[in-house]
Amino acid sequence: MPFFSESAVPTLISIISFLWGVTRRSLTLWNDGVFLNGPERHRRGFHAKPPPARPGPRGKPRRCCRAGTALVSMCRTSRSHRPRCLPFVEVDEAVIVDHSPVLTYSSYLALDEILTAQRPHSDEHEEMLFIVVHQVHELWFKQLLHEFAGLQRQLALGDSAHVLHSLRRSLGILKSVITQIDVLETMTPSQFTSFRGNLGTASGFQSAQFREIEAVLGRRDHRAFERYLEGSGERYRIESAMNRPTLFDSFLGYLVVHGYPVPHDLLYRDVSLPMEPSVELQGVLLQVYHDDDVAAEVCEGLVDLDQRIQEWRYRHGKMVERIIGDKSGTGGSSGAAYLRATLSTPMFPDLWTVRGRL
Ligand code: HEM
Repeated sequence: MPFFSESAVPTLISIISFLWGVTRRSLTLWNDGVFLNGPERHRRGFHAKPPPARPGPRGKPRRCCRAGTALVSMCRTSRSHRPRCLPFVEVDEAVIVDHSPVLTYSSYLALDEILTAQRPHSDEHEEMLFIVVHQVHELWFKQLLHEFAGLQRQLALGDSAHVLHSLRRSLGILKSVITQIDVLETMTPSQFTSFRGNLGTASGFQSAQFREIEAVLGRRDHRAFERYLEGSGERYRIESAMNRPTLFDSFLGYLVVHGYPVPHDLLYRDVSLPMEPSVELQGVLLQVYHDDDVAAEVCEGLVDLDQRIQEWRYRHGKMVERIIGDKSGTGGSSGAAYLRATLSTPMFPDLWTVRGRL
């Protein structure tokens, strides 16, 4: 007597082949003892359902999956010629949500912590201003990183309205930190000298959030995180940002969603390396400026952003020059001379290059 009837054989075969498919897929996603999920799984082009093969017509973004990343038509680099997603940007933001039931103005804003966090190392009246202006900068840096994370998500979705709004806000934040330099500039060289000795080797040079901002905007230089202790949160955040797609990578995704033929080698570049200027991309940008007012406005917003970062560098460098002259910095650099050397290095060189041809 057979264990099962002959008519059940096809059903059994399809069950076995289904199970084998699931197992094989799971093994592919099993990588060095880690089951790939989230952005990494996504980066490698795994989808619950294969996405449609072509991007939508210009102006009608088509998205490939719930993460909402831009779809690239046919990846010529992929052997299977399957459509793939652009790298998905998932930012590990340190946002702590407070669910405490009773709220007051003070508890909501954690004012006990914030207003007791100014701890001068001297009795000099001026030191309080020095601390407060730095702390305010750091808070705005935090907000900028938060805005940039949102901006990268909106760029990936091709959402022009939100991209422009977010860019405007980021520009406002930068304007505000530049203005705060006016306040610090009221400090005379002798007032600063009165407490400078108490700063030891502390310097804005060590601002991890500033380094993270640079990394999000495209800086790829290991020295920026190697100065921090191995295993520290600061080092982790800067290093992670240097291994994620930059804001400009996300902008390229935005162009793809809007139907522009961004070179594939840029879309699938190794994001841990600096992006080199590309003549081919400059051709695409010229086309954007020529054809599409809204996308051109996004380009202009990015140029504004780049320019405002350079303005901050300039204002900070001038302030340093007027307060400490040619003295070296507490962080160990040559001071104003070092800061001068960091001026005028654009974050988005392609957007500057095309201006001469518009
Ligand atoms: C009296 C005011 C200030 C003085 C004299 C001053 C001085 C300096 C100097 C000399 C450097 C070069 C590195 C070093 O050797 O220390 C530097 C770098 C830096 N400072 Fe300031 N600074 C002042 C205020 C600020 C403020 C308010 C911020 C806001 C966070 C800031 C952020 C930075 C950053 C981010 C760098 C690194 C720049 C780079 O490497 O490109 N500084 N500062």
